[in-house]
Amino acid sequence: MKILVLGGTVFLSKAVTAEAVRRGHDVVCGARGASGGVPEGARLVSIDRNRPGAFDQLAGERFDAVVDVAKYSVNWVRDALEAFGGTTPHWTFVSSISVYADHATDELLPPLEDDPAAEFTAERYGSVKVASENAVREVVAGRELVVRAGLITGPDDPTDRFGYWPARLSRGGRVVVPDSPELGVQHIDVRDLARWIVFAAEERVTGTYDATGPVTPFQMAIGEMAGATAAPGTQLVPVSEEVLRELGVNPWAGPRSLPLWLPAEWAGMVGRDVSAALAAGLKPRPLAETALAALEHERGLGLDRPRKAGLTSEEEQEILKAVS
Ligand SMILES: NC(=O)c1ccc[n+]([C@@H]2O[C@H](COP(=O)([O-])OP(=O)(O)OC[C@H]3O[C@@H](n4cnc5c(N)ncnc54)[C@H](OP(=O)(O)O)[C@@H]3O)[C@@H](O)[C@H]2O)c1
Repeated sequence: MKILVLGGTVFLSKAVTAEAVRRGHDVVCGARGASGGVPEGARLVSIDRNRPGAFDQLAGERFDAVVDVAKYSVNWVRDALEAFGGTTPHWTFVSSISVYADHATDELLPPLEDDPAAEFTAERYGSVKVASENAVREVVAGRELVVRAGLITGPDDPTDRFGYWPARLSRGGRVVVPDSPELGVQHIDVRDLARWIVFAAEERVTGTYDATGPVTPFQMAIGEMAGATAAPGTQLVPVSEEVLRELGVNPWAGPRSLPLWLPAEWAGMVGRDVSAALAAGLKPRPLAETALAALEHERGLGLDRPRKAGLTSEEEQEILKAVS
């Protein structure tokens, strides 16, 4: 097949490209190239989706499948649909479980149009994804696969979130972990999601799916990761959520955080029913494998580098001192 990946230079879209090349497809990536190169065997066509006529260079080319990961702009999605929607038999739009306003009822956030003046908050992100999904369904109805991804993990993750754990565990010693017996983790390895996206294009799988893995209790997930990556003698030190909050530790991501830790008010994000995606061919691998691959990637970057997410050694020491 000839596949157009709108992206290809970062994490998921790069993994989709690599997988599609590996399976013998002819892959064209449409991106600026500002974030890096595309996997060997793919062709990068330099396009800037913020510019009018972004797709002019690809005029006249026909694709068997398009994969779009657009994140910030409904107009990007519409422009791509206008350029290729009429002629492409299978269209994947990568959305997010952030589209849900309420995880208990599956109510969606209200769709929002682009507004360059508005701050791009987590809520706006979800609303832009809702509007983008709608745009896709309007133009390529019956040919669309909408992939509502959960937390994406594994090698190459630009957010630094998941990799914190294997990197930290591999350094050993006393490791601060949230004492959250109720908390679960749901994630999908980037390579598994990529494999499914390419498979779905090949098999013309359509519909809207929550695409993540099964729920694992947080403690068990840490245990599995530790089993695969921790240095001998590593000691996990559970710290209550109350104390973590008092000490200004952030949940989920970003500086001074314990990545993947979700406070009770966000906990609904975990528990999405993924049976439809599993039935449609998504195959999540064991967490230990993801942790090992993430660790290898982390080692390549340097375990002591400044991170975008997690605790620094000093911050962790401060917490350990406060709780001992
Ligand atoms: N990470 C998660 O845990 C998570 C969870 C749920 C859903 N998702 C969704 O999963 C997808 C992840 O996609 P991704 O990993 O490939 O990363 P991404 O950051 O969403 O996509 C980046 C791609 O867009 C290209 N791009 C950026 N600005 C551009 C422009 N002006 N013109 C043309 N191309 C441009 C980038 O290439 P250049 O910079 O080289 O142009 C890059 O290849 C997204 O849809 C995200 O919303 C992620």
